[in-house]
Amino acid sequence: MLRREFLRLTGGTCLVHAGMVVAQTQPQPEEGLDTLARRTGRRFGFAVQPSHADKEPVRSLLQQHAGVITAELAMKWNIMSNLLGAPDYRAADQVGALASSLGAALRGHTLAWHQSTPAYLTNAAPEQFVTAQTAHLQALMQRFKGRIHTWDVLNEVIDAAAADHQGMRQSVLSRLWGTDRYPALFELARAADPSAKLAYNDYGMEQDEPWCEARRSVLLRMLEAWVKRGTPIDVMGLQAHLDLSRRFSAQKLLRFFNDLQAFGLSIQITELDVRDASNPGGVAARDEAVAALYKDFMDACLSHPAVEMVVMWNVTDGDSWINRWNQGQRRTDGLPQRPLLFDAQGLAKPAFHTVTASLGDATVKFDMKKASNG
Ligand code: XIL
Repeated sequence: MLRREFLRLTGGTCLVHAGMVVAQTQPQPEEGLDTLARRTGRRFGFAVQPSHADKEPVRSLLQQHAGVITAELAMKWNIMSNLLGAPDYRAADQVGALASSLGAALRGHTLAWHQSTPAYLTNAAPEQFVTAQTAHLQALMQRFKGRIHTWDVLNEVIDAAAADHQGMRQSVLSRLWGTDRYPALFELARAADPSAKLAYNDYGMEQDEPWCEARRSVLLRMLEAWVKRGTPIDVMGLQAHLDLSRRFSAQKLLRFFNDLQAFGLSIQITELDVRDASNPGGVAARDEAVAALYKDFMDACLSHPAVEMVVMWNVTDGDSWINRWNQGQRRTDGLPQRPLLFDAQGLAKPAFHTVTASLGDATVKFDMKKASNG
């Protein structure tokens, strides 16, 4: 039996025992995660790099579970452009082709972000920067016109600690584009591809910590001002890089969702994973704790009609950005973190089963009319 067929039949779960692959006795759903999400009008997907997506186990897992594809790196400005000549769209095109081959929706990520601004523009004059950012946005949107479900127009411009700047991050974007002109990015994007939904995307809003509360307040203030002036924004993208060391309150998250919904926005969970850097214990205990937070988070999200999709940031623990050398906190025991639904071999972890159960048990449908307050 092909591995893909095997994974399909077992819901992606198997054990390697004495060199033999043995199905776990627990019955597994045959439906993939996106199929389950569609039951309530939602979509489920993954961020990928082409170099991982065409190898096992990621390839089979995407075939079984992906209804949305985001390019982890390939659509970022600094990845496709440098000083030397025309932008290189090859990796972005590969991700676009992957989404088409899977019949998955494509998320565009991201048109403007301080971290993906090409280095050669950091010291540009403001007029030069505005011309370059505008041309980049228009060219990239033109290339993918009609094929993008949602574009992340603007990424991570909030820094609640920047009290002197109304909580707006001070960066190359604020300096050379201007915080008061962020809405203009959405206007340019709407004109470039009217068929794409337009999102603002950010992190650190999902958990129950004072700094998250501060970030939520700044965000809501910023969105209120944008909506008042008629900014064409459709979606709030919540990255949801969750962390076991932070508290979680479903009640507070749902109150925040209501606030977003009141602005007429739908909500997309755009970069979900769960860090377990500071959780003690063995792998089994860590996996249970990670699964429990996934359950609480997913159950809350799926109980709200404005939540329209859930996208994981990478597919397996082996390809997770969190385990790459330069990404954040390391575990003191030196072991890699276990932030995703599948382990490095592509085997389903407890978190896969809780997410499957949350999707399977969901009854509240995504409802754009309710989401847009209509
Ligand atoms: C990350 C990638 O996963 C890393 O490989 C890269 O080094 C930096 O960017 N928020 C975002 C994503 O919006 O684009 C980031 O992706 C993760 C945090």
